[in-house]
Amino acid sequence: MFSALVLDTDDGEVQAWVRSLELHDLPDAGPEEVRLEVLYSSLNYKDGLAVTGRGQVIRGDYPIVPGIDLVGRVLESRHDAFEAGDLAIGTGWQLGEVVWGGYTQRAKVDGNKLVPLPDGLSPEQSMVVGTAGLTAMLSVLALEEHGGEPDAGDVVVTGASGGAGSIAVALLGALGYSAVASTGSEGAHTYLRALGAERIVDRERFEDGPARPMESGAWAGAIDAVGGDTLATLISQMQRHGSVAAFGNAGGHDLHTSVLPFILRGVNLLGIDSNTCPNDRRRRAWMRLADLLTESHYDRIRARTITLGDVPAAGREIVNGQVQGRILVDVQR
Ligand SMILES: NC(=O)c1ccc[n+]([C@@H]2O[C@H](COP(=O)([O-])OP(=O)(O)OC[C@H]3O[C@@H](n4cnc5c(N)ncnc54)[C@H](OP(=O)(O)O)[C@@H]3O)[C@@H](O)[C@H]2O)c1
Repeated sequence: MFSALVLDTDDGEVQAWVRSLELHDLPDAGPEEVRLEVLYSSLNYKDGLAVTGRGQVIRGDYPIVPGIDLVGRVLESRHDAFEAGDLAIGTGWQLGEVVWGGYTQRAKVDGNKLVPLPDGLSPEQSMVVGTAGLTAMLSVLALEEHGGEPDAGDVVVTGASGGAGSIAVALLGALGYSAVASTGSEGAHTYLRALGAERIVDRERFEDGPARPMESGAWAGAIDAVGGDTLATLISQMQRHGSVAAFGNAGGHDLHTSVLPFILRGVNLLGIDSNTCPNDRRRRAWMRLADLLTESHYDRIRARTITLGDVPAAGREIVNGQVQGRILVDVQR
């Protein structure tokens, strides 16, 4: 027997509770299945939506175990790349959305959805990073691939006090970029400076959308967790050939913009999807994360560690914008 957080519906209402399960309760994961003892998971914005029944995150059948992230020790493997005793990370690839996810002590996962835990990263640290940190790293990679350089000018990060935003600020700081943190949380200023932000700006300045299709060019790069009018403002304020890595919609998903910044300034709008990011690129991103983040980053970014039973309440906090940094889930506690 082992414990898992299970979501089910009752009269159309999503309910979450910790249940005792047996291995045969877990859906099989195909011919290359890997069985894992899950060590940690994490709480992402999407997990908050799933456990509170908002945003139609769950696209599989109920009951389902949510949790888009996990790290675990391999117990048995039918996949060539893994053997018993290996440590492996699973994020995205529909985990915790269509197939059973990481809020459990045991999991059966398609080995093609796993990557090895890189050297230099502990299981615990990997889940302080989780999908949020992987997304931040993929955003930085995208900027680098489109000409981003530390001395090119300011790079603004929106939703900076959140999980992905915090790690984006830390990565930019570690790489020597001039990171500007945009936040609506006054209490987060000291935290963001300690992570590596050179300057803090109030998120209000982006929220109304651009006054003109092209405003004065303020940013060499941008990493956006917010979307909507915030993203439209960023696009209008990019410098020539600057790039915006857009991964979030915490502030909305409609985008009203103009073609002018793209055709007159060569601005790049780079979409980031960590969910379906190919495994080669994931491995590269995880190795860069292991290289760039230090013990003090993890200490600062980890807001707290919770148990499976704490996840529903913490899920409400994250969708209400009340979480600074990242919440680690210790599934074995
Ligand atoms: N594309 C992908 O692969 C991918 C992967 C991970 C996450 N995401 C998306 O990225 C976003 C952030 O995820 P996360 O896990 O970092 O979430 P999070 O920890 O909740 O952070 C979101 C941050 O955005 C800001 N924010 C929240 N509501 C806002 C609003 N109405 N208007 C403006 N800013 C707002 C807040 O930062 P401040 O208080 O500092 O302003 C908040 O802390 C979510 O939309 C999530 O779904 C996408």
